[in-house]
Amino acid sequence: MILAQHAPYDFDTILERHGSSSAKWHEVVEQMGEDGKDVVPLSVADMEFKPAPEVVEALIQSATHDVFGYDYATEDYFTAFLNWMEHRHNFHIDPSWVSLSDGVMPAVNTALRSVTRPGDKVIIQRPVYYPFTFAAEHNGLTILDNELVLDENGHYGIDFDDLESKAADPRCTAMILCNPHNPVGRVWTPEELRRIGDICIKRRVRLLCDEIHADFSYPGHKVTMFSTLGAEYANIVFEFTAPTKTFNLAGLLCSNTIIPNPHLKRRYDAAADNIGGLTVNHFGMVACQAAYDHAEPWLDALMEVLERNLGLIRDFTARVSGIRLIEPEGTYLAWLDCRGLGFDTPEELCDFLRNEARVWFDEGSMFGESGNFFERVNLACPTRLLEQVLANIETALADRQ
Ligand SMILES: Cc1ncc(COP(=O)(O)O)c(C=O)c1O
Repeated sequence: MILAQHAPYDFDTILERHGSSSAKWHEVVEQMGEDGKDVVPLSVADMEFKPAPEVVEALIQSATHDVFGYDYATEDYFTAFLNWMEHRHNFHIDPSWVSLSDGVMPAVNTALRSVTRPGDKVIIQRPVYYPFTFAAEHNGLTILDNELVLDENGHYGIDFDDLESKAADPRCTAMILCNPHNPVGRVWTPEELRRIGDICIKRRVRLLCDEIHADFSYPGHKVTMFSTLGAEYANIVFEFTAPTKTFNLAGLLCSNTIIPNPHLKRRYDAAADNIGGLTVNHFGMVACQAAYDHAEPWLDALMEVLERNLGLIRDFTARVSGIRLIEPEGTYLAWLDCRGLGFDTPEELCDFLRNEARVWFDEGSMFGESGNFFERVNLACPTRLLEQVLANIETALADRQ
């Protein structure tokens, strides 16, 4: 039982991550050698923060007292998850709808396998989280790109005519939706989601809805979990959630997939059995339960930091000509339109940032060609670190003149 009250939390300390097992810090040194030691990666979507002390305490208690035999998800685990979804998202979930897995992407791949056959087609909306492309390719599917449309106000929207015509392809059996959308930051409105759902229902396209960023939305925006739109929508969807983005626990591999339609749920579970079963590691479960039960104040405090950091980027892009902020409605990622900087190729932009400004963002081209000359910035870091990164970019840009 976690009794201690841990707030206020430390979101200020700049952690030394070199020499840790952090994949993104390792990648910089791997690619740039020793010369990359001072390059700051604000790339891969995990945070430069320690996890909530409430979670750490639960893990220590578990490590000290538990026996690590085969596990099942206990009633307390489900209660924590169901309460979170009810309380944060007004989403009432029956435990029989839930399957656990060691990550959202293993679950997305499994769901794809359960509703498609090799040679089928799947809709994604680029620029989008690039492992969706890998999932389609690994499962022998052809991608139909319902490319997002950026208007002159810097707002991304959906081309519904294009979506309708792609969904009408008889070989199109699935769509992968990202809500909130990584990297463009859109929180899809209930109206948009209903229109997507109506098209998928009409065309018998199964919807795989990745809601891993659902706990991050900024004032004025509210994430709608897809099934809450109504029973006919719940009937076609797989919803992928996880405490791992929300509470910076990605290394603990834990996610919960919600499949209200019992027929789809059976197909999903059979596809999972076919690869030897999907489940969650003991510590993943302990951390997930503790986070949902006890760490909400940590998340609330984190949101204040993210809003402050977003404000910094807003000021920076207002000051620096050639870079435009695509205002995020959700996620802890900022999508920067750098087309105005005048680089000849996306590679030149990327080299400039890494070699001159000493910062490593995720280059937009990773998310599809429509992401060329964009950069994705991870806002989940101490404000001082972000200030330092932005100052470095300004200096490097001034030197380039
Ligand atoms: C949209 C989206 N889906 C899935 C993932 C990865 O989830 P997992 O680590 O649980 O496979 C990420 C991580 O950045 C993500 O942004």
